[in-house]
Amino acid sequence: MNIAIVGSGYVGLVSGVCLASIGHHIICVDNDKEKIANLKKGEVPIYEPGLDELMKKLMKKKKLTFTSSIKEAAKKATVIFIAVGTPSKKNGDADLTYVENVARQIAVNMDSYKLIVEKSTVPAETGKRIERTVKLNLPKKYRGKIDFDVASNPEFLREGSAIEDFMNPDRVVIGVESKKAEELLREIYKPLKTRMVVTNINSAEMIKHASNSFLATKISFANAVAQICDRVGADILKVTEGMGFDKRIGRSFLNAGVGYGGSCFPKDVDAFIRLSEKSGYQFNLLREVRNVNEDQKASFVRLIEDKLWIVKDKVIGVLGLAFKPDTDDMRNAPAVDIIKMLQQEGAKIRAYDPVSVENTKKILKKITYCKDPYALAKGCDCLLLLTEWDEFEKLDFKKIGQSMRQAIFFDGRNLYNKDKMESLGFEYHGLGRGVK
Ligand code: UDX
Ligand code: UDX
Repeated sequence: MNIAIVGSGYVGLVSGVCLASIGHHIICVDNDKEKIANLKKGEVPIYEPGLDELMKKLMKKKKLTFTSSIKEAAKKATVIFIAVGTPSKKNGDADLTYVENVARQIAVNMDSYKLIVEKSTVPAETGKRIERTVKLNLPKKYRGKIDFDVASNPEFLREGSAIEDFMNPDRVVIGVESKKAEELLREIYKPLKTRMVVTNINSAEMIKHASNSFLATKISFANAVAQICDRVGADILKVTEGMGFDKRIGRSFLNAGVGYGGSCFPKDVDAFIRLSEKSGYQFNLLREVRNVNEDQKASFVRLIEDKLWIVKDKVIGVLGLAFKPDTDDMRNAPAVDIIKMLQQEGAKIRAYDPVSVENTKKILKKITYCKDPYALAKGCDCLLLLTEWDEFEKLDFKKIGQSMRQAIFFDGRNLYNKDKMESLGFEYHGLGRGVK
């Protein structure tokens, strides 16, 4: 099938590459001309394991092409996915300016039947607005002559495991209002041989917001329990292990730490709170999920301040900057807030991350970047682990501890074994590990 994807960011590009790999002809669109020029040369703008090779392979086979012209895409493709960003406004609302703009451009450039599919995360009732926008902007000569459908097909891929998640989803959700739209989307996803949840557009849009908000709730719940564990001498790792064996609860997304970040959870929780507010319901549960997440970063900084005593001029080494491993994405990374709070207290920050340094430089100032964890540790008054990269699991902590001024370790992701770290001479602080 000929498919266009408008917006070649994390979601759009991965979706385009994966849809091409299951046999479709994909044209990826972006209004960032430089990005398109680089993509045409085979350069992937993001760090995502496996994406680079797969993209190049599909370009060679002519299954995947790029353009900055929506006009070209709208002419060639029958199905057009919208995957542009939907950032947060100051009040938490999803900013749908880009979505509206793309819908308009599709409308003025279409000359035959099109299925327009929302892939971006959008609040309920956006589909209806896209439909109205397309109707209003369709050239007069085509009004009443050419038909179109709008559908919702939210994406659940995670950064860092995006290809695997796209190709092996737990389910594909499609929100449709016509048989034709349903058939086209079923056909597109047929090669994945996965469970399809077919519903109307509003329900599909709600599924995405409710899913992300529920996962954020699980994380905040675990973080709140971790706070109590610290106060009563319990270990959050054992508590969540014990809870997680209950199939009704499940172990995933119960990892306590410095909080959730990224381009989705913070934004989608905010947007869902606003959507419910506008609909006349106060989603206070979700407000508290957000509060717990914010406080998790602040309380981590309070712990550091308490143990360091004086923060001013102390050298703090940060291991890991990205909001999670296997990505270079710094959007809403907990490291950003934590580093800013410590810098405000006068701390000197050194940092190491395998891939996120360039993106961090765009957001934070006055950081000394180091070439590896050993260089980072030299002369530090403490180390903080903020992203649990695989390569941090096997570090030589004896060597690291010896090169530090004070061997204090704050484990923001509960990656390490407390007894082992203590036997290597560290004063070790995890989160919710029953240590005051
Ligand atoms: C996506 C979804 O759009 C968002 O709703 C969801 O919650 C997370 O995933 P993401 O792919 O991470 O966002 O966004 P980003 O990496 O910023 O990519 C968006 C792309 O759209 C950018 O490359 C941008 O240049 C492009 N864009 C934006 C357009 O092509 N046209 C526009 O009008 C605006
Ligand atoms: C998320 C959703 O999982 C995905 O379905 C959706 O399409 C986009 O948003 P992503 O943001 O890429 O994906 O990463 P995810 O693995 O969900 O992690 C989000 C944040 O939660 C990270 O900061 C991570 O460190 C944190 N997290 C995750 C925890 O703090 N504890 C956990 O147990 C799990």
